Amino acid sequence: MPRFAYVNGRYLPHDQAHVHVEDRGFQFADGVYEVITIIGGKFADEEGHMLRLERSLRELSIPWPVKPASLCFIMRELVRRNKLRNATLYIQITRGPAPRDFKFPKEPVPTLVLTCRRAGFQPPAALERGVAVITLLDIRWQRRDIKSVSLLPQALGKQKAFEAGAYEGWQVDEQGFVTEGCSSNAWIVTQEGVLVTRPPSNAILNGITRLSILECACAQGIAFEERPFTVTEALAANEAFMSSAGTFALPVVRIDGQPVGDGTPGPLTLRIRQAYLDHVGAADPLRKGQ
Ligand code: PDD
Repeated sequence: MPRFAYVNGRYLPHDQAHVHVEDRGFQFADGVYEVITIIGGKFADEEGHMLRLERSLRELSIPWPVKPASLCFIMRELVRRNKLRNATLYIQITRGPAPRDFKFPKEPVPTLVLTCRRAGFQPPAALERGVAVITLLDIRWQRRDIKSVSLLPQALGKQKAFEAGAYEGWQVDEQGFVTEGCSSNAWIVTQEGVLVTRPPSNAILNGITRLSILECACAQGIAFEERPFTVTEALAANEAFMSSAGTFALPVVRIDGQPVGDGTPGPLTLRIRQAYLDHVGAADPLRKGQ
């Protein structure tokens, strides 16, 4: 079946979907994006993703290419044309094409691109065994709260993790505190059973999954603290996990080759994962037989 992408008003076969050579997204990483997971036809946390997209655009003074309601329509239409029920939807908005000049164009015509593909949920083993992470120095800019397409440090980090046989890289600031994963937020569960994750600031992307997990923790009476934690603290923790659209809450069982807790997915992590999936109204796509 042909895959379709959306570019500036047109649904096109994926291999014919192109943007201008002088698009500022291509030349300056002058753009923002969102990733939304669709599970069984449901758009998980759609409102949160739309609100964060709006914020990212505002922070960079990039105008909306279409009204938000039209974008929601395009999202559905693209998924429908691709006949997908479990999918990863990618939305990118850049300041658009303009003769190369660092300053903003006077009248930008933003570029809107959407792609989607069958969800690449990890195999059930990732959930049953958990995943490994390595730690890396956080070398990113100081506005990590904006979901910008400037992702080279994260691409380098993920590659390093991959080469080390790990699933994710946990970035660490100059003071030794974990900021977040290359494409996920980082969490631990202390020996006292308290859920800990870094508070929102310019140092991290305020994950939409992260926000929903905190809501679920509140609803379930799970104690949590929003504060930075060190790698040493993570290694002494009972449990650790990462969160993002598509991984939900994924158990982290090794950090730099050392086990977290007993080296298996922790019960609170699995409870939170289930609470999150219930919250978005989805069955767990990683569970066998689903
Ligand atoms: N990344 N932190 C970073 C740096 C991220 O790139 C992401 C998401 C998250 C988690 O955010 P959310 O829960 O809203 O997905 C945290 C997406 C999935 C990506 O770049 O593919």
